[in-house]
Amino acid sequence: MEQTKKVMLSGIQPSGDLHLGNYLGAIKNWAERAEEFDCYYFMADMHTITVRQDPAALRRRTLEQLAQYIACGLDPERNTLFIQSHIPAHAELGWVLNCYTMFGELSRMTQFKDKSAKHKDNINGGLFTYPALMAADILLYQPDYVPVGEDQKQHCELTRDIAIRFNHIYGDVFKVPEPYIPKAGARVMGLTAPESKMSKSIPEGCVFLMEKPEDIQRKFKRAITDSDTENCVRFDPASKPGVANLMNIYAAVTGKSFAEIEAEFAGQGYGKFKPAVGEAVIETLRPIREEAQKILADKAYLESVYKAGAEKAAYVANKTLRKVYKKVGFVPAR
Ligand code: TRP
Repeated sequence: MEQTKKVMLSGIQPSGDLHLGNYLGAIKNWAERAEEFDCYYFMADMHTITVRQDPAALRRRTLEQLAQYIACGLDPERNTLFIQSHIPAHAELGWVLNCYTMFGELSRMTQFKDKSAKHKDNINGGLFTYPALMAADILLYQPDYVPVGEDQKQHCELTRDIAIRFNHIYGDVFKVPEPYIPKAGARVMGLTAPESKMSKSIPEGCVFLMEKPEDIQRKFKRAITDSDTENCVRFDPASKPGVANLMNIYAAVTGKSFAEIEAEFAGQGYGKFKPAVGEAVIETLRPIREEAQKILADKAYLESVYKAGAEKAAYVANKTLRKVYKKVGFVPAR
C-alpha cells in the first residue's frame, strides 16, 4: 500500500548548473530509492532569491534542472518532481514557522554567516530566515528522511528542533525527520582542491553535467594529484586526497573496486590514470546530456511534468498546512 512507504524529500537550488558532485553524491542515489520510498524532489527557486538572481537565467536554470533530474533517472512517474514556488503552502508555512524559530538560532547558522560575508551589500531578511522556509519545505511533506550534503546538516537539525517545539505546544503535527547524509565515499571533491567538495564556485575543478566532452577531459587532465613523487595509483585519502578523489569518481562511474583500479593502473602513473577517469566520466554523462537536451527541447512535456508534480505535492502540503492553521488558531476560510 502506498501509505506504508517511508517518505523522502530533498531540494536543490537552481542557482547554478548541476555537476558531477550533485549527480554521484545525490541524484544518482535518489533515483535508486524510487521503489522503496515515496519521493519528493523540488527545485528550490524561492531560496535562490536570497541572493540576487538574473530572472531569465533563474527561469532557464529551473527548467534545465528539472530536465537534468529526469535525465539522471528520476522518473516523474515514480517520483514527485516540482517547482517550489508553484506550491504557495511553502511560503505560508514558512511564515508560521518563522514565528517558532528564534533569532539566536538563526544567528548561529553557518550558511547565513558565510553568505552574509560573501554578499555584504545584500544581507536581507530572507537570507536570515532561510532556515524557517527550509523547515517548511520539509515539514509540509512529513518525510522520514531528508537526503542532504554535510553542509545542510545544521539546517536539518534546526528543522527537527522547530518540529519538536511546535509538536510540544500543539500535539503531534509534524513528523520529526532524520537527515540522510551519504557516506564519505559518495562525496565528490573538487578536482583542483580535493580538500573541499566539488562546487560550482570553483569552475576549473568542477565538472558540469552538460559540459562538452573535450572540456571535461581537459579538467581531468589538469586535476591535482598529490605532492609526493610516488606517481602511483593507490587509495590513501589522508596522504593522497587528489588521487583518492579520482579513484572514488572512477569507482562510482565504472562500478570497480579500489583494488581493481589499483591493479588496472599498476605501474602506469597518473599520466594514464587521469585521462582514463575523464573518459569514463564522459561516457557516463553522455547519455544524460543527450537525454536532458531532448527533454529540454520538449517544452510541453516539461510543463506536463511540473504541473502533475505540483498537483501531487500541493495535495500533501495543503493537508499539513490546514492542520497547522487550525492548531495555531486561524479561522478556517471554508
Ligand atoms: N538549503 C538547501 C541547499 O542550499 C536547498 C534546500 C532548500 C533543501 N529546501 C530544502 C534541501 C529542503 C533539502 C530539503 O542546498
